[in-house]
Amino acid sequence: MTDFADTAGTLTFLGLESSCDDTAAAVVRHDPGLPPKVISSVVAGQTELHADFGGVVPEIAARAHTEKMDICVEQALTKANLNLSDVDGIAVTAGPGLIGGVLAGVMCAKGLAIGSSKPLVGVNHLAGHALTPRLTDQIEFPYLMLLVSGGHCQFLIAKGPEEFTRLGGTIDDAPGEAFDKTAKLLGLPQPGGPSVEEQAHMGDAKRFRFPRPLLDRPDCDMSFSGLKTALLRERDRLVETHGGLHKQDRADLCAGFQDAIRDVLAEKSKRALLRYMELSPEHPTLAVAGGVAANMSIRGALETICAELDTRFLAPPLSLCTDNAAMIAWAGIERYRLGGRDGMDLKARPRWPLDAQAPAMLGSGKKGAKA
Ligand code: KG4
Ligand code: ZN
Repeated sequence: MTDFADTAGTLTFLGLESSCDDTAAAVVRHDPGLPPKVISSVVAGQTELHADFGGVVPEIAARAHTEKMDICVEQALTKANLNLSDVDGIAVTAGPGLIGGVLAGVMCAKGLAIGSSKPLVGVNHLAGHALTPRLTDQIEFPYLMLLVSGGHCQFLIAKGPEEFTRLGGTIDDAPGEAFDKTAKLLGLPQPGGPSVEEQAHMGDAKRFRFPRPLLDRPDCDMSFSGLKTALLRERDRLVETHGGLHKQDRADLCAGFQDAIRDVLAEKSKRALLRYMELSPEHPTLAVAGGVAANMSIRGALETICAELDTRFLAPPLSLCTDNAAMIAWAGIERYRLGGRDGMDLKARPRWPLDAQAPAMLGSGKKGAKA
């Protein structure tokens, strides 16, 4: 396990990320005894490329990653004032994610590693998110992580760089996905989270009471797909009775929807915290990552729960909460310090659950759990 005080040797890693719709490259340095440092971090988003489709189109994403990755790598190295020969290793997201994008990153990283004779380290994207609080705040293991983004929603106890226990997660949509679909249903711009949050500020959350699914179950699992159906039903009812949606209707729908997500996340976080505290009672910490952690209402509710349970609450800066390559470079350093190395046979994996022991949930099919 990486101990910040006595890891030997400075390490500088280049990280590559391309598992969804952000092409990213970054350089991170860790001097033993000092906090890790993000030397450079470049993120090329693809929002406009997918805007007409109401979601990420895998083929378009993969092509864009292939076109942009080498540019991002060059920019990250230039900003860090380094050459490829100066880094100690190359870390790359090897899954889980959209396979074309993951492949684009893995192939680029292999080329860089072979061309520079540097070690290659494949990283689980979710581990990148889950280890971010160590990059930003040097927290020691174990801690509880709520990963809440457009593609993921799970509670993980982080026990080591490669040791995670999943306490629960969504059984269908991720909350960010629910925000994005809601925005689409209401004609608001993508990404949906910020648009819905903005509308919710002006809305009356009490006007529409949306369901809080699975609160009757004692576990930490969640479900968000029914929410958009409930919202769709209200929207259609309003359109039918009023002949359209008024500005205020839209704001009220957003406010009601946001409150429902917030309540579910807050209550399930409380349950996850209580379970985690039974296992790790000392100095409990709840850390969040993922784009949805940017939502002030959700963040506020999590802070309140943590204050009630005398738990430290940690939310990395947004640029490191959402998809980025600094988290991949850092996770690569952590893996490398444990002896993790990959060869030219490193595979791109569409499915790669962090906790292989946990029962399959999200999108699980014949090939097992996705994440
Ligand atoms: O972590 P992220 O950048 O990418 C992945 O999904 O991995 O998260 C993006 C998601 C989107 O679904 C977006 O709508 C959501 O995070 N999001 C928000 C907010 N800002 C971004 N959701 C709710 N409120 C926000 N302020
Ligand atoms: Zn992510």
